[in-house]
Amino acid sequence: MTLRTLESLGSLEGKRVIVRCDLNVPLKDGVITDDGRVRASLPTLNTLIEAGARVVVCSHLGRPDGAPDPQYSLEPVAKRLSELLDQPVAFATDTVGDSAREAVAGLANGEIVVIENLRFNAGETAKDDSTRKAFAGELAQLGDALVSDGFGVVHRKQASVYELAEILPSAAGLLIATELDVLDRLTENPERPYTVVLGGSKVSDKLGVISHLLPRVDRILVGGGMLFTFLAAQGHAVASSLLEKDQLDTVRGYLADAAERGVEIVLPTDVVVAESFSADAAHETVAADAIEESSFGASGIGLDIGPETGAVFAQAIRDSKTVFWNGPMGVFEFPAFAAGTKAVAQALTEVDGLGVVGGGDSAAAVRQLGFADDQFGHISTGGGASLEFLEGKKLPGLEVLGWA
Ligand code: 3PG
Repeated sequence: MTLRTLESLGSLEGKRVIVRCDLNVPLKDGVITDDGRVRASLPTLNTLIEAGARVVVCSHLGRPDGAPDPQYSLEPVAKRLSELLDQPVAFATDTVGDSAREAVAGLANGEIVVIENLRFNAGETAKDDSTRKAFAGELAQLGDALVSDGFGVVHRKQASVYELAEILPSAAGLLIATELDVLDRLTENPERPYTVVLGGSKVSDKLGVISHLLPRVDRILVGGGMLFTFLAAQGHAVASSLLEKDQLDTVRGYLADAAERGVEIVLPTDVVVAESFSADAAHETVAADAIEESSFGASGIGLDIGPETGAVFAQAIRDSKTVFWNGPMGVFEFPAFAAGTKAVAQALTEVDGLGVVGGGDSAAAVRQLGFADDQFGHISTGGGASLEFLEGKKLPGLEVLGWA
């Protein structure tokens, strides 16, 4: 079955259309530090505005505890949306209460309101189906149809993602359609060589994707905090670097499986080791099999891949026709430990084929390092969602829209 598209909803003129976006953006002191997800919501919102719909935008932000919490308010997001759409955007200070109902009732055709954070209501993320259904029922009163466009949250079985789509006539928005087109190209006959670059702190977050992709790709490049568990699995000492001891056997299994299949798992040959975890820590580059021989001995902490590794990874990426990258190579937030992530990002912009940045931290990293979105084949808005898709998992927020 294929995804229900906007056209399946018929004419939307004058209809109240709830749009479930993922506007879960990083905020610092109330200021949005990466508005990528807001920008990614624009094609669908503009289409609905042009169609004369009365647009009711909803989203989660962060992980509040099922009750209002001002630090997670969507108000700054509504302001940013108004700037980007270049039209007024109303803001309702609750989600299904008087403020939301009045704001929706006051909408004229082509106007838009953002309602407050869905997760200020315990029903949104409730474990039991009936509580989620009840909250979805309240939300449904705000609209005549649902356009589901929060790709970053389709792996969550939550009221606005799943149950609401069962209650109202529903279809996928343009962002979800675009994301799926790209992810399909990564799973259905990808052009080869196909390289996957994995980083980030935890191996345990990436186990599913590694085991699912091993039979499907030509090489996996491993950086980020998770590389130390791989080095330790090969018998190297990693000093005080991040290490998931309980994953060592699993990682050994992957290394053996990869060797048997002829898939290269490329590990760093050098790493940047620091005296402590801080932006201005003393640091030096050492061979990956000699981490404890750095000046910092057993207390050294690996915070980035080394320059030799960066060059090898960059070459492997440039030599590929399809590349998927998820997870920074080092602590890119500290300029002294950003070079590895920068080398990978730069190489990805030079791929003669499809180069995909897989959401979350990697998307924030490329923007923070000064790259522009259009330098990449695609920057996914979904970190967890794109990984789960590539793991071959069924995603509830897509299944409910007809995807199978
Ligand atoms: C994300 O940032 O990956 C999505 O917005 C989902 O957020 P969650 O992990 O809090 O459900």
